[in-house]
Amino acid sequence: MTQQRTALITGGMGGLGTTIARLLHNEGHTVLVTHTPNHQHVDTWLAQQKSEGYTFTAYATDVADDTLCQAMADKLHADGHHVDILINNAGITRDGTFRKMSKLNWDAVLRTNLDSLYNMTKPLIDSMLERGWGRIVNISSVNASKGQFGQTNYSASKAGIHGFTKSLAQEVARKGITVNTVSPGYLATEMVTSVPENVMEQIVAGIPVGRLGKPEEVAALIAFIVSDAGAFMTGSNVAINGGQHMY
Ligand code: CAA
Repeated sequence: MTQQRTALITGGMGGLGTTIARLLHNEGHTVLVTHTPNHQHVDTWLAQQKSEGYTFTAYATDVADDTLCQAMADKLHADGHHVDILINNAGITRDGTFRKMSKLNWDAVLRTNLDSLYNMTKPLIDSMLERGWGRIVNISSVNASKGQFGQTNYSASKAGIHGFTKSLAQEVARKGITVNTVSPGYLATEMVTSVPENVMEQIVAGIPVGRLGKPEEVAALIAFIVSDAGAFMTGSNVAINGGQHMY
């Protein structure tokens, strides 16, 4: 049986993030989520979750900003929390063909999806090292290895994630901390369903399983990775994409 821990999920109010938060809550863990500063719906989201039996604590931060992440970690520690399980899940898309891509959209995606791994892991890893136990899961994408028309920024950021995972995994393997990448395919979340309909039809046609993935299917995989039973799994990149890209 897995011991109860404290988990922090960045982007925890999003489609995949909420599902991960709920499943880890079901496993008996204390669950903290991050959301963007000035988010309008935090209180209603927390109340909605509570009415369904899920008690979460929410912290504001911009994962693209190292100063804000350090400040958020300081606050969380001052509140008496120690993060054992970090799910680096927050991510954005700014799709467009490379010829049309602005530097602004390049930077926004690289900073939010990739710099965030430094920004969020840095202020939390020392306490995992001190306690000799930790789980870090970095959410990448099928498009990190497959590539995707219109996603040079996103694919570059998501491909960078696994390099980070492999290096950090080696550095902390003897300290009881595992670091893994999970690379989901197209899931039925708002990020994916906002893709133009005709493009979406083509994408689904290319998924052998014949449908979008469910966030619950990815969350179940993560629940294993962060469990005590997952201790021998580190530096891995687990594909979960309905067979869209096999490697
Ligand atoms: N392969 C080759 N050519 C393609 C193509 C493809 N897949 N898709 C479009 N084209 C061609 C068009 O036929 C058109 O050609 P012509 O100019 O010769 O007619 C041209 O490219 C269109 O180019 P534009 O620059 O005008 O592109 P657009 O404005 O029509 O839109 C786009 C481009 C914004 C990238 C749009 O295709 C799109 O939104 N694609 C979806 C990208 C995607 O999959 N995003 C995933 C989001 S979810 C996510 O990221 C989660 C995850 O991890 C999986």
